[in-house]
Amino acid sequence: MDGAARDNDISKIVEADRAHIWHHLIQHKPFETNEPRIIVEGKDMRVWDQNGKEHIDGVSGGVWTVNVGYGRERIANAVRDQLVKLNYFAGAAGSVPGSIFAEKLIEKMPGLSRVYYCNSGSEANEKAFKMIRQIAHKRYGGKKNKILYRDRDYHGTTISTLSAGGQDERNAQYGPYTPGFIRVPHCLEYRAQWDLSGEEYGRRAADAIEEVILAEGADTVGGLCLEPVTAGGGVITPPPGYWERIAEICQKYEILLHIDEVVCGVGRTGKWFGYQNFGIKPDMVTMAKGVASGYAAIACLVTTETVFEMFKDDASDPMNYFRDISTFGGCTAGPAAAIENMNIIEEEKLLENTLAMGDRLMANLRNLSEKHEVIGDVRGAGLFCGAELVSNRSDKTPADEKMVQAVVADCMAQGVIIGATNRSLPGLNNTLCFSPALIATTDDIDAITESVDTALTKVFG
Ligand SMILES: Cc1ncc(COP(=O)(O)O)c(C=O)c1O
Repeated sequence: MDGAARDNDISKIVEADRAHIWHHLIQHKPFETNEPRIIVEGKDMRVWDQNGKEHIDGVSGGVWTVNVGYGRERIANAVRDQLVKLNYFAGAAGSVPGSIFAEKLIEKMPGLSRVYYCNSGSEANEKAFKMIRQIAHKRYGGKKNKILYRDRDYHGTTISTLSAGGQDERNAQYGPYTPGFIRVPHCLEYRAQWDLSGEEYGRRAADAIEEVILAEGADTVGGLCLEPVTAGGGVITPPPGYWERIAEICQKYEILLHIDEVVCGVGRTGKWFGYQNFGIKPDMVTMAKGVASGYAAIACLVTTETVFEMFKDDASDPMNYFRDISTFGGCTAGPAAAIENMNIIEEEKLLENTLAMGDRLMANLRNLSEKHEVIGDVRGAGLFCGAELVSNRSDKTPADEKMVQAVVADCMAQGVIIGATNRSLPGLNNTLCFSPALIATTDDIDAITESVDTALTKVFG
């Protein structure tokens, strides 16, 4: 069989997958008897699998990535044109799409001014950690090197980003971890650690971070890394008052505030960036998934000019610059795709659509919670929502993980892809996750929540 014939024979593709592919995040034993899922094609909000079955994608490519939807020819064409002209040159030199995208991006991020390109969210976060560590060495005799991260947050898959990971099931069995990462408490009011609510709860949760800083010694803490809305840890939207207090604390103790926008960045919450919902001024922002909606691999670490200046203040010192590279940070496909991705969001007014459709998604989920006792909490921002399932509303006992997964599987059988927290937190993998593309229509949103309604009835009665 020649290559073209084989490529058109889907059974051969499935066979090759079974024989050779090590899929992400999945136990492979079931593939000995069942076919792995292969996604063959996508258009707008929909994808088709190897059997030609159509699905509405309620999670933008599984992991909240394909923000502008599938099948965007103008992105593909822009990437093609750029690759033919120049596909790559190492990032010590600049590139045309790199400059253009950086300028467009910085226009959306007042107070920030420098873009460092790399190619995954984990890598961007690692770069931020390296900058914080190098600043500690340059300015504080190496002492101010600790990096705080929050319970339930996730920052990536490498050993150091796992060391900054607040999800114990995700981290387990990958130690020993990188030293110098210190955990601070989460801020999920639904599972409150303090008997407070609203703004008081928000300020208390931030004060708990200050307590850790004081216990560690403020002169040893260089950075605080937080997700604006905790994603895989349960779609946790921060309580009011939280971020204002966080900003005060960082300023008071000269701690760099690093916001991980890998999920929220570029539109997911209805603002360009999640942190812009809270009026704060980060020192560093990392982003990846939605930057080019998965049309090319690109991640960015964006910093203030103040941070940038710290790496060029003494040019006579041969060690005094950021001695870091990302080989594929020099690929031009990423910024070429990111420019078109951003143009689409602007031209099609997708931020506005995200807010309107996000309201509809939240309202539909809240309506469902009146019918289904199992929905304990609904939370979200823009087109990024979570529904936490509990077996008992009064004591908030988390629903059995297998039943939560059964809801996801039933939706899939109905042709609707939703997500759920998965191998993140012991006993707390009980939140259904929704992150449809920013192009979603009311019909799409209603179809997603109708399938959840049907699935909840089937699984929980
Ligand atoms: C908040 C957050 N940060 C970082 C990452 C890691 O990104 P990547 O998988 O591109 O390395 C993820 C991935 O899901 C994430 O959700």
